[in-house]
Amino acid sequence: MSLNINIPNITVGCEIGQCLPKARRLADLLGVKLISPLYSHGKVEVVLCEKGQVNQGYQLLVDDTGIALYPNDSRLHGPIRVDFNAGANSHRRKFGGGNGQAIAKAVGVSGAFLPSVLDLTAGLGGDAFVLASLGCEVRLFERNSIISCLLRDGIERATLASQDDYELRDVMRRLVFVEGDSIDALKQITEDDRPDIIYLDPMFPHRKKSAKVKKEMQAFQNIVGGDEDSGALLEHAVNSARYRVVVKRASNAEFLAGLKPTYSLTGKSTRFDIFALRKIPS
Ligand SMILES: C[S@@+](CC[C@H](N)C(=O)[O-])C[C@H]1O[C@@H](n2cnc3c(N)ncnc32)[C@H](O)[C@@H]1O
Repeated sequence: MSLNINIPNITVGCEIGQCLPKARRLADLLGVKLISPLYSHGKVEVVLCEKGQVNQGYQLLVDDTGIALYPNDSRLHGPIRVDFNAGANSHRRKFGGGNGQAIAKAVGVSGAFLPSVLDLTAGLGGDAFVLASLGCEVRLFERNSIISCLLRDGIERATLASQDDYELRDVMRRLVFVEGDSIDALKQITEDDRPDIIYLDPMFPHRKKSAKVKKEMQAFQNIVGGDEDSGALLEHAVNSARYRVVVKRASNAEFLAGLKPTYSLTGKSTRFDIFALRKIPS
């Protein structure tokens, strides 16, 4: 597996005996250190930093509720984990407004059209989960190993929980996660398996740190970086989709790679830039 970790130090942690095998496998997979009082060769490592600075490292903590990403400095932000069957994702699935949502309009979902979607930039899977909740078949790609392990863990837990919830089960069946670079997948698409819609929401290149950037987004920026190759991703996407390419941006951001879309749907904080290739069936 290609390791794509930008941050100076990341470890796997585990304090519960029954989770130790899983934590060990994860540490091996990522090629990082396992730190656990239960692990005979492990030792707790203290990462020092200059006075006034914060420790920018992270730990993936494995426990009986799954995998969560913790900053070593707890003042930065709380744990980050993927929950599809609780919290904001679940609330939006049940009460989010269905096809009236801007993302549904952007990809063209309607009673007459339930597109197949390739999500080239899965992240923590929030957008893909919304699209699958609306009825789209979604194949989602994530290339960063840390983000992938959080996403895979969230998908596994939701799939398990969905055994008692047929609506959630249908949604989870529509999500197919692939760990890897979506550019490689686009290069192999044949005429027959062109997706109806291609969706992308790349990270912005690094800018000077703004106080307005949410703490969780800072973590994402530390771990993922700036997705500097997203212009190439858009070019490949426009050559591969059947009907549309949809790019999610901040509402005040410039167009990705300077390419002017056919039109945009602009909300308070988010904008969807739509590259219309063919008329959507109605
Ligand atoms: C801003 S996040 C996406 C957030 C996502 N829309 C959500 O709802 O959680 C961008 C993600 O795309 C991933 N990414 C960027 N380029 C990629 C590529 N070519 N292949 C796979 N993943 C990519 C990054 O690693 C990052 O995790």
